[in-house]
Amino acid sequence: EQIEKGGFEHFMLKEIYEQPKSIHDTMRGRLLPEEGIIKMAGIWDHMEKFRNAKRIIIVACGTSWHAGLVGEYLIEEFARIPVEVEYASEFRYRNPIINKDDIVIAISQSGETADTLAALKLAKANGAFIYGICNVVGSSIARLTDAGSFTHAGPEIGVASTKAFTSQLTILTLIALKLGKHNGNLSNEKFMSLCYELESLPTKVEKALKTDALVQEISEVYKDAKNALYLGRGYNFPTALEGALKLKEISYIHAEGYPAAEMKHGPIALIDENMPVIVIAPKKGHYDKVVSNVQEIKARKGQIIAVVTEGDEQVKNIADHVIEIPDCSEEFSPILASIPLQLLSYHIAVMLDRNVDQPRNLAKSVTVE
Ligand code: G6P
Repeated sequence: EQIEKGGFEHFMLKEIYEQPKSIHDTMRGRLLPEEGIIKMAGIWDHMEKFRNAKRIIIVACGTSWHAGLVGEYLIEEFARIPVEVEYASEFRYRNPIINKDDIVIAISQSGETADTLAALKLAKANGAFIYGICNVVGSSIARLTDAGSFTHAGPEIGVASTKAFTSQLTILTLIALKLGKHNGNLSNEKFMSLCYELESLPTKVEKALKTDALVQEISEVYKDAKNALYLGRGYNFPTALEGALKLKEISYIHAEGYPAAEMKHGPIALIDENMPVIVIAPKKGHYDKVVSNVQEIKARKGQIIAVVTEGDEQVKNIADHVIEIPDCSEEFSPILASIPLQLLSYHIAVMLDRNVDQPRNLAKSVTVE
């Protein structure tokens, strides 16, 4: 096992550090900016279906569901196809409306999650075209679907998903860009510039990993917190949900993710000098709005840990701690912002002496209801 961990103390840390490579592997042979294309047989072979789709329904559980939420933003923005994201466990039991021209995409690292599998079977029985985004080749979901794309992140051992998540985001980005290019919603110029930027993402992830020592120091300050709040807007609302889930899963600290603007409808009542608030505030997107949220938190004496774009000044002046990630388009920021959040939960869990790779009560793959 020590050998498998490649010198890292835990599989989770190893997998966090593998992300420049795993993201690169997800894109390898697919993202070909020099040729001006994204090559994905699963999409290309069924382009008519995607072109005629009235909507896409994404079904998933856990971290994969968070990836699905980012997928909704990506596909709606680049391809202008309406997307709904559903918890597979809810979808399967609520007699959902499924039409023949719907495409149902299941996202699942393991490809074995019972609820996701059942949701897909229901969609298939109702005539929808079903597409799988899985990490495990030969898994049940991969075998059931009409078509799909493997994430190729490599085996993920840590129960808390890290590299599989960022690979899911990568594949969803590729799908959204490809659909947008082929259905005419994305100009060639925009498509090309996003493709080139995507190509440079593994290098930026490497840079984001350099926050590790700083994140470790911050973890020391907040390791005894009883609660934590994660806030983000737009593309980084799902990032906030995922950050909070990571902390809950492995450190057993109660954490909630919220869309930053919803704070005033409840969570703001929780903020006092004992509440760490992790704010995802990259420069692109709704930056000014997030800045005013940060001011509201500070006015209530909350402890602010902000994930910002390198060189940021505004948030730095207000926040207690800032973690800088490389500049990137808003659409790619969940990938970069997730890195320090994974590290934060990891270090806190280690400091609390938790079983990082196999947290209590959790399973890597939930194959029963
Ligand atoms: C379990 C795992 C999570 C995972 C979820 C969905 O809860 O502990 O890490 O996100 O299942 O799993 P899947 O394999 O379908 O992505």
